[in-house]
Amino acid sequence: MSINILITGGAGFIGSSLCDLLVISNFNVICLDNFDDFYSENIKRNNIANSISHSNFKLIVGDIRNSKLLDKILQDNKIEIIVHLAAKVGVRNSFIIPEEYFDVNVNGTLQLLKAMQKNNVKNIVFSSSSSVYGNRNGEFSETDITDYQISPYAISKKTCELLTYNFHKNYNINVINLRLFSIYGVRQRPDLVIHKFFNLINNNLPLEIYGDGNDLRDYTYITDLIDGIYQSILLCLNTEYCIYDIINIGNSNPISLNNLLKNIKEVNEKEFTVINLPREKGDVYSTFANISKAKKLINYQPKTNIFEGLIKFKVGLGY
Ligand SMILES: NC(=O)c1ccc[n+]([C@@H]2O[C@H](COP(=O)([O-])OP(=O)(O)OC[C@H]3O[C@@H](n4cnc5c(N)ncnc54)[C@H](O)[C@@H]3O)[C@@H](O)[C@H]2O)c1
Repeated sequence: MSINILITGGAGFIGSSLCDLLVISNFNVICLDNFDDFYSENIKRNNIANSISHSNFKLIVGDIRNSKLLDKILQDNKIEIIVHLAAKVGVRNSFIIPEEYFDVNVNGTLQLLKAMQKNNVKNIVFSSSSSVYGNRNGEFSETDITDYQISPYAISKKTCELLTYNFHKNYNINVINLRLFSIYGVRQRPDLVIHKFFNLINNNLPLEIYGDGNDLRDYTYITDLIDGIYQSILLCLNTEYCIYDIINIGNSNPISLNNLLKNIKEVNEKEFTVINLPREKGDVYSTFANISKAKKLINYQPKTNIFEGLIKFKVGLGY
């Protein structure tokens, strides 16, 4: 029998990639998205163009903060599991409009959890972020203390983790909080570093680099993440006990921004100039996922290294 699944933020970069897999994997997919104006609605409509051609995919345009709408969706569609991806995204923007980040990310997640409790939905996979680890060196493990976020965005994600724990403990909801590490690939958000650089290079414009280029990032290819989300869904649906888990999803192989630029140059076979600017607040020096828990719990094993990922991305963009 097919499983009814709700994907919030399902028209975005990660959500639409997940929907593509779920519609061919015996799920009835309900995609809830409000086409937030952080980037173009057209891009998001294109993202779901494939999924929408499947009869087991339904798009609902609406807001996760609308509790009446949530009740109706959960009841009408007998939702069994939710993958919660809808959010105000972007670290820098969160300094400009922090109130909106807390309203959508924290209040929106609270409304969703309340609707789950009310309508007896027992499973949620939530997209948290490596940013909850704050500004530190070395590998990041799920058992590390995470009390020192340095941006409103990161604080909102940490708060959502605490909220999901509260609902797990008090209402027996299975929760998997995935901490995602710099996801890139086809459909990547245009504000994110790899996509932005490819666009600038293609338009013969200089790249703006914040800091000295030595910051490390654990870039993770989208199909590796989607595999991790899919396995997390199965874990929730098949567990005998009520579970709460936090799981890092990264590549576990950080590279510096300078090294990323070398790879991008090789892939694009094109020269470009770089403008160095001061570091921005909210930027951390390093991210590095320890993925042993992901390997153990969901058999997660990233398969795409940065060079292969950049090639796939370039092909996807059609450059
Ligand atoms: N991309 C990454 O590297 C990364 C890293 C860590 C965590 N995450 C998290 O993963 C999730 C998906 O990120 P993404 O990169 O696909 O971003 P995205 O912006 O492409 O997708 C988010 C989607 O949520 C929708 N949305 C926003 N506010 C909404 C609301 N109030 N109601 C309904 N829909 C709403 C947007 O329209 C968008 O389609 C986000 O929660 C993000 O914080 C992403």
